[in-house]
Amino acid sequence: MKIFLDTANTDEVRKFLDAGLIDGITTNPTLIANSGRNLFEVIRELAEMVNGPISAEVTATDWQGMVAEGHKLAKISKYVAVKVPLTFDGLKACHILSKENTMVNVTLCFSATQALLAAKAGATFISPFVGRLDDISISGMKIIEEICNIYAQYPSIHTQVLVASVRHPLHVVEAAQLGADVVTIPTKVLEQMLKHPLTDRGLDSFLQDWKTTGQSIL
Ligand code: G3P
Repeated sequence: MKIFLDTANTDEVRKFLDAGLIDGITTNPTLIANSGRNLFEVIRELAEMVNGPISAEVTATDWQGMVAEGHKLAKISKYVAVKVPLTFDGLKACHILSKENTMVNVTLCFSATQALLAAKAGATFISPFVGRLDDISISGMKIIEEICNIYAQYPSIHTQVLVASVRHPLHVVEAAQLGADVVTIPTKVLEQMLKHPLTDRGLDSFLQDWKTTGQSIL
């Protein structure tokens, strides 16, 4: 399973990229607003750092506007995946951009029926939002399971399931168990995935015992 970081903070990306943990990045208008930086600058910088898909979201709501914005975003780098919302206009823009060989990430997906249509429109990625479904007492992971099962029935579907709105490490484990292609996570969740109290305790005791030997490796 590929791991993308869900952030527009280039410092955070660099830290995890240097450890080989990141395959791509997703951004959205909220993350760009939180970064306080210019969209084009951030996407350009991310594309230069990460040799993998960088999702940059359109803000037009009509297909003509989305396609025009998509063209401008895609010009930044071959790694840009244009992110469009799961509306009729979004799917039409997805179809047009995909036919031009631009990667498209269809976002704000909340059902298997929406995911089926996104695949039909030629999406490279479909982004179901698991956390926001859980927030309204609908199991986000159940939707992921449905989408993965449906896509697996049809070898002609090449759309990758990109699990988004991830709130905790269990979402990541469940996404991997279901065979999702990609999970996009905030840096906080990546840090939580890394930590285990038994690792910390074990390392402390190894280091204390090592000290008693008086030896050094270097
Ligand atoms: O990429 C979009 C998605 O990850 C948003 O997450 O936590 O705002 O629902 P959240």
